[in-house]
Amino acid sequence: MDRSQEKIKELLYDFRRYFDQLKEEGVEYAETTHLPGTGERGTGSGGHSSAAVRLRSSRKQEGVLSSGERFRALVETILKCKKCGLASTRKCVVPGEGGNKRRVLFVGEGPGAEEDRLGRPFVGRSGQLLDKILASISLSRQDIYITNIVKCRPPGNRDPQADEVIACWPYLEEQIKLLKPRVIVTLGSPAAKTLLNTNTGIGMLRGRFHDYQGTPLLPTYHPAYLLRSYTLENRKKVWEDMKMLREFLDED
Ligand code: URA
Ligand code: SF4
Repeated sequence: MDRSQEKIKELLYDFRRYFDQLKEEGVEYAETTHLPGTGERGTGSGGHSSAAVRLRSSRKQEGVLSSGERFRALVETILKCKKCGLASTRKCVVPGEGGNKRRVLFVGEGPGAEEDRLGRPFVGRSGQLLDKILASISLSRQDIYITNIVKCRPPGNRDPQADEVIACWPYLEEQIKLLKPRVIVTLGSPAAKTLLNTNTGIGMLRGRFHDYQGTPLLPTYHPAYLLRSYTLENRKKVWEDMKMLREFLDED
């Protein structure tokens, strides 16, 4: 087989894989426009020169959405939420963000002042430290999705109250179902306690994997705690936890 035949085979293979993926997402019907033949030059202005593919999804018609669509709808719901008292003091709702490329979910406590102002998670001082921690194990924000136990800022950065955690919990629960993380990392005590449904302190929980409904969950200290208590001992512990995460990702 010469080089161009190999190339065509590769392309067909990619095309096949792409269509298999669409099929899995519920697309049943694809209509392609006429592709330009050899010698026919594309004008770049659409029409026959573009290999446009029109897709029809049976799921949409039946009201069954893909997980990406469900995730976007969930974010829309969260952005409008007024289920607890934090709705009256927040500036912005912070649903979470990230690329989810490596299917690693980080869960913090709740937005701080900077997050509340911008509507984005971990963008203040804690976030900057978190970026460094991630970089130390070669992860970036694009590799992970990051969100919080409560999506609105508790005033004065107090811990979220039980009624606020309970009101907001279904959102995180649904985010986990849709993102299907390979591993969850909780930052600080409220996140670990909520997801593991325990009263045990973070000092006892960290340093090993736990289980959240079949998904490995690794609790570690919150970067805000590290900033407050920047001791060698605490930094070493977080480093140990991150090494465990790195090893898990390398093995998985
Ligand atoms: N601390 C958190 O727990 N979450 C944020 O988004 C920012 C700071
Ligand atoms: Fe809704 Fe959660 Fe915000 Fe409360 S904290 S208003 S439950 S999004």
